[in-house]
Amino acid sequence: MKEVLVTGGAGFVGSHLIESLVNENIKVTVLDDFSNGSEKNLQQVKDKIQIEKFDISNTDWNSINKYNPDTIFHLATHPRSFSLQDPKRNMEVNVHGTLNVLEFAKKKDAKVIYTSNSGICGDPQFLPVTEEHPIDCKTPYDANKLVGELYAKIYYKIHGVYSVIFRLATVYGERQRVNEKLGWRPLIATLVEKVEKGETPIIQWDGEQTRDLIYVKDVVDCLILGAKSKDHGGEMFLLSTNTETSVNKAHETVCKTIGKNVTPKYGEMLPGDLRRMVLSYDKAKKAFGFSPKVPVEEGVRRYVEWYRKNK
Ligand SMILES: NC(=O)c1ccc[n+]([C@@H]2O[C@H](COP(=O)([O-])OP(=O)(O)OC[C@H]3O[C@@H](n4cnc5c(N)ncnc54)[C@H](O)[C@@H]3O)[C@@H](O)[C@H]2O)c1
Repeated sequence: MKEVLVTGGAGFVGSHLIESLVNENIKVTVLDDFSNGSEKNLQQVKDKIQIEKFDISNTDWNSINKYNPDTIFHLATHPRSFSLQDPKRNMEVNVHGTLNVLEFAKKKDAKVIYTSNSGICGDPQFLPVTEEHPIDCKTPYDANKLVGELYAKIYYKIHGVYSVIFRLATVYGERQRVNEKLGWRPLIATLVEKVEKGETPIIQWDGEQTRDLIYVKDVVDCLILGAKSKDHGGEMFLLSTNTETSVNKAHETVCKTIGKNVTPKYGEMLPGDLRRMVLSYDKAKKAFGFSPKVPVEEGVRRYVEWYRKNK
């Protein structure tokens, strides 16, 4: 890897990925329309990278023809939380945008690392969920991410565009923020914001629904391992911790870390929410030697430390 494009690079996962790439002296260009990302996320690396304000659903990719990446990390996404309200825009970004990325990769003979979503399996029929688990999409976002995966596989089989697909579990970590405008309320970020402000968190459903919470730096390490691989073209991997944490337990961990005992209120279950989620990372371990390093307690501690400095 010498030169990369990162779509959605000004977002949460993208900004951490870029820091790691810059540390490896890789030339980075960010494509982001800043609908959910921010230049602030790239503050520490902005002098070492190129940033293009660019909508990936835009069909005119000639304006960025000057870039010759050997790898494209395709992270740009229209969020799950908003996809029921605006399924059309979700499709434009997550399907048309992904096709545009694959076409550009074909033209430039670049690899594609695509971040998909483990939620497309729906309510698990067995635990831990594996790559063989049947699909049961609950939102337009899930369906559109799945179509993106299928296109990545087709482009590998038909055109030889090397792609690795990662279905991410629930990612958390520094720089993840609540975005009320997009209805985006990530679990740890929401709980920390509420408890720090002394407000009462509202837990939708009874709080016994579970998540597989993965710390963002662990995700980044695995995406880079995938990009350096040669023998897994068109394959899909779960990217997870194989650890189940209930929303109530996450709340408890946040309260303990912050040092405040706040009792949450309980609300209605959100449409499309899943009862249980825990995913095996065995396949990624066998293929890339990946295993997650940061347990939830440590990840939450790092998040709270960052939040207090960046309120
Ligand atoms: N965070 C999670 O828990 C999680 C879980 C599963 C999968 N993922 C996947 O990981 C990837 C990164 O997620 P994230 O949490 O960093 O999200 P994020 O919203 O922070 O980052 C996505 C970025 O894409 C940009 N973007 C949106 N539409 C665009 C467009 N049309 N053109 C260019 N840029 C556009 C946004 O401005 C944002 O900076 C996504 O593909 C997402 O589907 C994330």
